[in-house]
Amino acid sequence: MITKEEARQRIAALSEELERHNYNYYILAKPTISDYEFDMMLEELARLEHEFPEFLSPSSPTQRVGGGITKEFQSVKHRYPMLSLSNSYSKEDIEDFITRIKKSVDTEVEFCCELKFDGLSISLQYEDGVLIRAVTRGDGMQGDDVTTNVKTIRTVPLKLHGDFPPFFEMRGEIVMPFDSFDKLNEQRVAQGDDLFANPRNAAAGTLKLQDSKEVARRHLDNYCYYMMMDGLEDRYQTHYESLQAAKRWGFNVSNFMAICKSVEEIFDFINYWDEARHQLPFAIDGIVLKVNSYEQQQVLGYTAKSPKWAIAYKFKAEEVETELQSVDFQVGRHGTITPVANLSPVLLAGTTVKRATLNNEDFIRQFDLHYGDTVTVVKGGEIIPKIIGVNFDKRQPNAQPVAFTRVCPACGTELIQNEGEAAWYCPNAPACPPQVKGRIEHFISRKAMNIESLGEGKIELLYDEGLIKDVADLYSLTYERLFGLAKELPILDENGIETGKTRKVSFKEKTAKNIIDALEKSKTVPFERVLFALGIRNVGEVVAKTIVAEYRDIDSLMQASVEDLSAINTVGEVIAQSVKAFFENPVNLDIVERLKAAGLQFAKAETAASDQPQLLAGKTFVVSGVFAHYSRDGIKAAIEAYGGKNASSISSKTDYVLAGDKMGPEKRKKAESLGVPIISEEDFEKMINPILSSVSSSPPPPSPGDTLSLF
Ligand code: IVH
Repeated sequence: MITKEEARQRIAALSEELERHNYNYYILAKPTISDYEFDMMLEELARLEHEFPEFLSPSSPTQRVGGGITKEFQSVKHRYPMLSLSNSYSKEDIEDFITRIKKSVDTEVEFCCELKFDGLSISLQYEDGVLIRAVTRGDGMQGDDVTTNVKTIRTVPLKLHGDFPPFFEMRGEIVMPFDSFDKLNEQRVAQGDDLFANPRNAAAGTLKLQDSKEVARRHLDNYCYYMMMDGLEDRYQTHYESLQAAKRWGFNVSNFMAICKSVEEIFDFINYWDEARHQLPFAIDGIVLKVNSYEQQQVLGYTAKSPKWAIAYKFKAEEVETELQSVDFQVGRHGTITPVANLSPVLLAGTTVKRATLNNEDFIRQFDLHYGDTVTVVKGGEIIPKIIGVNFDKRQPNAQPVAFTRVCPACGTELIQNEGEAAWYCPNAPACPPQVKGRIEHFISRKAMNIESLGEGKIELLYDEGLIKDVADLYSLTYERLFGLAKELPILDENGIETGKTRKVSFKEKTAKNIIDALEKSKTVPFERVLFALGIRNVGEVVAKTIVAEYRDIDSLMQASVEDLSAINTVGEVIAQSVKAFFENPVNLDIVERLKAAGLQFAKAETAASDQPQLLAGKTFVVSGVFAHYSRDGIKAAIEAYGGKNASSISSKTDYVLAGDKMGPEKRKKAESLGVPIISEEDFEKMINPILSSVSSSPPPPSPGDTLSLF
């Protein structure tokens, strides 16, 4: 038997040794012991901590395997706001940036050039060398506390070594390396879950998981690029120096950095990485330039949104040429037919591309696409890449033009086209299988009825078994019917192409029970989400909300005429027509009746009025761009809390366009042509807080261009 004191000492020694090996392995990439020895030590530590829980420290290496569950992420205010970077896309932009800097700083300037990691930013707070909190960026002013999840990331040190300051924050990026991403998506295909479009989305989704064990399994990674603390510039003269110190304390700081003094040197770095990035194990989307000297950084200062001493250079979307082999036609949940190109597989931005969307018939005509054409494909953040051009020189003389199908590829029904629209539709909505399955998938999705545990694969199985033919049938499912159902379904690859392998979809005891419970729970989902879930064409989340604000229940909505509906601010003729058409269809009326009978919410709950003064009552806003003090959803919520309404597109009924940074030029043009006032975030803050607009009482909120001192 080991004494308490011996246990304490052994736990301390094991923890330290394990953390050191972790550092050697993950940060220095120079392991000095075998994985087996490491696991043995970790096991011994876990055993001792279990026996002597009083010595279990929150920064113990055992915490990395996860286990903690976060029910709800606490919102935490950032001690230093988390700003963003201004973007640049060309050599001229970089030259302008350097000229601007040189105007304000008269001594020689050095730039620290770094990789721009494509993930999500994180703030890591350390007290006496121990990680005390990890917070997401959120809206820049406050974010979510994701400490339990972040602790599972091997490259985030839980305990530091060396001469670290007593309190500071490390800023960095959480990324999902390509191999973790590929494994995760493979697994999701096998489970019939939706795929993540890119590693960034996957990292974001992972960080918000409630179960930290699952986070640990997904193998995220972290790179640190910025230190923040009071008096930082008294300790270090340059940004580079502080990062090298951080590396010694245990942080993962990239080796791929360069100190450059001229545009030429900077562009050597940029051009090198524009090529070499494809060999990196994780995604980067550009290069970040930072003025290296802290003294110069202080002179340059900040705007409300970003430091004036830094800029991001974004790489262009990658392009590649490949051959168009054939065209498939896919049927969406509204019956729209989308042509999809099958391409000769090529490597593009780290993944193999075999397909590209062709949008509609006009798109095919515009490029005069022929089978066998050599096409140029680009990939942004999306799963499906786009074709942006055809190399006509390479067209074979006998090439056949791509012909758009005139019958539904799924059910054989003759397609129809609405006047003035490029799209073709399959009119067989009630019985065309992909449309039915698509509507059910939409109905159960998170923002609609949120029936977890039911995914694409399970819906397919239930549909094939004849158990569900529409969304209302979901509510006649019982545990007994579900339990034990199983079927082999084809496995698709990341391009949506059958791999020839199959996977077993089955309803085990727990899944069947979860589904029945989730269906029961969905009966409390509010009317506006039920309306959205019905999948009426053109009725998205915002429109559903707007309609529900005007009609208290489904019966009054069903009686509304096209004129009534289009009189609602932001609901135009097109939306009004599709709502009307939906409720004129007896198949839909029958579904609504059966959903009503199942007990779903088809009337507005009487909600408590907002606590805020209704200063924006009767005003409709369109929010566009990025804001310094709010997330997009946050600013929309503020509008509603003060009695205003949100609309998604600008029309003559819009009262204000609330423009943040990066508002699209099209929106601006439209607002100007309709004479809709464009207001800034500051104007908005004055509207909801009239004290701000009276001159004497309080200083105005910071506006872009004002210099904020953060140190
Ligand atoms: S510095 C005060 N350095 O890019 C600004 N950011 O577009 C601190 N990012 O929010 C950011 N790599 O999430 C910095 N080497 C790097 C970066 C980097 C990626 C992200 C970061 C930031 C975003 C701005």
